[in-house]
Amino acid sequence: MKRKIRNFISYLKTNYNYLKHKEVKPSHLFYGQMQPARAVEMLSTLNEQIEKFQSQFGEEQFVFVEIGSYLGESLKLYGNNINKKLKNYLVISIDPYSPDAIHEGNKIVDLINTPKKMKISVHQSKPWSSPAETKKIITKIYHYFINNISNYSFKDKHMHLRMKSENGFFLLKKLNIKIDFCYIDGSHYYEGIKNDYNNFNSILRKDESYEGCICGDDYELDLDKIKDYFDYSKEQFLEFLMNNKNVDYIVLNTKNGVNKKNRIGFHPATTLFFSETQDTIIKSESGFWKKDKT
Ligand SMILES: C[S@@+](CC[C@H](N)C(=O)[O-])C[C@H]1O[C@@H](n2cnc3c(N)ncnc32)[C@H](O)[C@@H]1O
Repeated sequence: MKRKIRNFISYLKTNYNYLKHKEVKPSHLFYGQMQPARAVEMLSTLNEQIEKFQSQFGEEQFVFVEIGSYLGESLKLYGNNINKKLKNYLVISIDPYSPDAIHEGNKIVDLINTPKKMKISVHQSKPWSSPAETKKIITKIYHYFINNISNYSFKDKHMHLRMKSENGFFLLKKLNIKIDFCYIDGSHYYEGIKNDYNNFNSILRKDESYEGCICGDDYELDLDKIKDYFDYSKEQFLEFLMNNKNVDYIVLNTKNGVNKKNRIGFHPATTLFFSETQDTIIKSESGFWKKDKT
């Protein structure tokens, strides 16, 4: 009941602010999910890249790309920070805001498939952005996103591509745009994360002494650390991941016991993809990841 009241208040505030063209923070539509620890890591990674860029290219244009923007929370964090540090920059966001993109044309089924021999203990939970829920509200989210961005400091150096990241990639490639910083937080399905990483990695700005940064969200579980959580071999867990590479998010009870403290929530497609890539990926507790360039 309390939640219903909170949601109703958030709904009223959102509509009032939207009518006044002010920033909206609809917590009833999952605004406010950014963990402080993740925000710190996101900004320190960005600032490190900006410093490298400035020492190499001085006043040239810094190009930032975000894949998956939702209500614009992470874009606000990045964009306002870039605006403080640089004069010459371009912020590009890519998100189709389409019900079709959420379930990829209904190909995706959010049913967890557990091989019988593994006796995996799934905690049935509702993720904050369950695809079924997001599908219903995504068009409204787009209007709130545009409203919010037009209130931020970087609004006149921002461009939104309302399309799937794959099409955004083809467009940027055709225009020969090279990226200095790419943040991936779009599709949570295997083909999606794999294509985003490989595509956008291929159009980072690179020369002998400089390389653009590629990073993202949703890497909570590293396959190499599986023994810390479960009594399964890496091969067994890999089979579980492959069976579930088109499931958005899974919460499992670990070997340490069935209670809240011992659960781990993760995106199986991200764990699977990063177990396959040849690149070294640095991950943090919050699920933030970046490609190691050293
Ligand atoms: C988790 S939300 C992004 C949250 C946002 N980065 C933040 O932290 O505030 C995921 C977003 O990815 C978008 N998305 C899903 N599939 C996509 C695709 N193929 N290309 C680009 N964006 C996609 C969804 O529309 C949704 O808005």
